Amino acid sequence: MVATSLLLACLASVASTVSSLSIVDRSAAATAFFNPVDGGGSWLNNAGGGGGEPLNVVISGLSSPDVLTDDGVLNFARSIGFSTECFGIHLGDPQSANLGDGHGFVNQTVELRQDFGNADVGTCLESLIGGNHFRVYRQNGPSANSGALFLAVSQEENVNEGHTISPDGYDVGRDALAAAATGKTSFGGVNYSTEVQRLENEMPAGANGVNHGIAVDGAVVLLTVTIE
Ligand SMILES: *[C@@H]1O[C@H](CO)[C@@H](O)[C@H](O)[C@H]1NC(C)=O
Ligand SMILES: *[C@@H]1O[C@H](CO)[C@@H](O)[C@H](O)[C@H]1NC(C)=O
Repeated sequence: MVATSLLLACLASVASTVSSLSIVDRSAAATAFFNPVDGGGSWLNNAGGGGGEPLNVVISGLSSPDVLTDDGVLNFARSIGFSTECFGIHLGDPQSANLGDGHGFVNQTVELRQDFGNADVGTCLESLIGGNHFRVYRQNGPSANSGALFLAVSQEENVNEGHTISPDGYDVGRDALAAAATGKTSFGGVNYSTEVQRLENEMPAGANGVNHGIAVDGAVVLLTVTIE
């Protein structure tokens, strides 16, 4: 009888350890993002030709879960003036990134362009006159599953200039996106409140390895987006 109750107490304690462990696991998983470098990744994607675009904006894994889905980030992007590409015309090849999450290099999940206030023809305007665009990568691999979205944001010249990144276009694009996202925005009946944090020296500053040899200042903007 004593042995049985001891055994039961033992089992109960194992059970409570297991359940408290799983609670610890969940809170450990609730993190803004993991530094890609810690898992063998990089703050630069692979743009082809040896260079990379900086992953200069992160949408925090602590954002509302609905923001971190493909449809969710698209709707949020529309609330800050971005849209899908002009009639699905894709300018350039997909680019891949290694977020250090155990998935290795994966292609962008989506590419969005600034829509200049008109979700249908705006992106076509962007292709003609230049503007901001970004690629999205999700950090969801087995070794660093934050759910955070890493964005490679840049500002382009217009099509007459060969549709290339403008000088200083990575920092300028990042800051323009941060300014557009700050505070309260809304699209498709969803209201967002976004907190913007600037993480200085999060990635290496300078032009080393950066696509087109364009220098960056090393800051990453962290967005925590909450659906109200
Ligand atoms: C990315 O997509 C291109 C074109 O579809 C494909 O050739 C390439 O293998 C993909 N890269 C990765 C890392 O999946
Ligand atoms: C979004 O905000 C507007 C303006 O404050 C408000 O009228 C509306 O009810 C809000 N929508 C939701 C879904 O909370």
